[in-house]
Amino acid sequence: MLPAYIPNPVAVVGGGGTPIDRGTRFFDGKRLLGDGKTYRGFLVGVAGGIGIGLVQIAIQNGLPDAPLPTQTLSSVFLLATGALTGDLIKSFFKRRVGKGRGEKWPIADQYDLVFGALLFLALFDFSWLLTEVTPLRFLFILILTPVLHRLVNILGFATGLKNVPW
Ligand code: CTP
Ligand code: MG
Repeated sequence: MLPAYIPNPVAVVGGGGTPIDRGTRFFDGKRLLGDGKTYRGFLVGVAGGIGIGLVQIAIQNGLPDAPLPTQTLSSVFLLATGALTGDLIKSFFKRRVGKGRGEKWPIADQYDLVFGALLFLALFDFSWLLTEVTPLRFLFILILTPVLHRLVNILGFATGLKNVPW
């Protein structure tokens, strides 16, 4: 999951600039995505996720018998792009229910990246999803993700990188 986990914090650190929706409003008069979703954040985030995935591939090549999921170029790319696309989809619906940028939205804020990453794998590399994301690993992802999310956001708040600790 690292290529899916890394893009969010990298986007926080390296994001900013032109919002992806360029200020566009939806029929409800509210922003399509909001100022928190930028091109730069998406691109540096995806690059960060792919970067960590390439490191995983290099490491796993030296450990052929490790009982770990096998990362491929495809899985790395889909995990990273899927995670931040899930984040965009989340923000679209977050604006529709009237929540402002950075406002807390439990469950959705934690699992958007899991949803996006698994959706992209299901759509574009279903065989990898089937063989590598076993039910037990899926359960592990469901438990680990909100815990990591909380810890990283508290860290981001404490270091002044994030305005809110979620
Ligand atoms: N970020 C970005 N581009 C992205 C995703 C994130 O620039 N595609 C940066 C923004 O500075 C954003 C910060 O990372 O404010 C935190 O990301 P996130 O919590 O996902 O966004 P929020 O500001 O909370 O916006 P939203 O309410 O839409 O989730
Ligand atoms: Mg947020």
